[in-house]
Amino acid sequence: MTYQTIEAQSIAGSLGAEVTGADLSKPLTNAATDDIQKALWDHKVIFFRDQDLSPEDHLRIAGTFGDVYRVPFVKARDDYPDIIDIVREEADAGKYNFGGVWHSDASFDECPPMGSVLYSLESPPYGGDTLWTNMEAAYEALSDGMKSLLDGMNAMHSAERNYGSGGYFNDDDNQSVAMDIKPSESGDARIAHPVVRTHPVTGKKSLYINPVYTVCFEDMTEEESAPLLGFLHGHAIRPEFTCRFDWTTHAVAIWDNRCTMHFAIGDYDGHRRHMNRVTVAGERPA
Ligand code: SIN
Repeated sequence: MTYQTIEAQSIAGSLGAEVTGADLSKPLTNAATDDIQKALWDHKVIFFRDQDLSPEDHLRIAGTFGDVYRVPFVKARDDYPDIIDIVREEADAGKYNFGGVWHSDASFDECPPMGSVLYSLESPPYGGDTLWTNMEAAYEALSDGMKSLLDGMNAMHSAERNYGSGGYFNDDDNQSVAMDIKPSESGDARIAHPVVRTHPVTGKKSLYINPVYTVCFEDMTEEESAPLLGFLHGHAIRPEFTCRFDWTTHAVAIWDNRCTMHFAIGDYDGHRRHMNRVTVAGERPA
């Protein structure tokens, strides 16, 4: 895959590429914007190193993909309500790790985000990598019989396990030192999404389920759904569908939330990690 203004070097066989030739702190030309968008559709998650970004730069880059999505349940920065601080302090050792489970952001929403732009303000001396997995590759690798079964199914998504009235973050022991997570009854709502969604730009099909927010199949109990959901979640994170990014301070990741899941690894106890994330609004999965 070639581009006019940038180069993109794959970091794994299935998804993920490191992009060079773009300075995200400067307004992008139309050609550079087109290239970066195309690189995202091609690679699903793209990375840029050594970018010196102000919050305004960060918001501008996210704005090239669409409107901002205000993340529910997570308090945003006071000075920039469209940016969330993702912080894990030394004192969070052994307990709190935001994003430390495979998920697609806010799939509990009627219109979940299209993607996110994540910027590292402080990376730990080791660890703190993020994994992504390619949900198109996971779908493609299923048998024809499984594909045709899933093609007609919906699954129910909810924030209830994390942010609902009985969710994980209702327990003060599970709160972070620095982040302010606000569970509420609105987190108990459930929404149906197709198990297989079609990407609005590329037309490709992907699995659209995740172990945090997908609670069951529509018209089935959680118990009935668990075996097949468990198989699909395990299948979707087979190593050959994944990539892993070793963060350095001032690196940026942009991912397509519609055809990937991601996982933040909390393996740097005793060190601080500080990220800023701007989330981009998306459409109802179809
Ligand atoms: C997230 O957005 O889920 C967090 C990702 C990360 O901090 O690496």
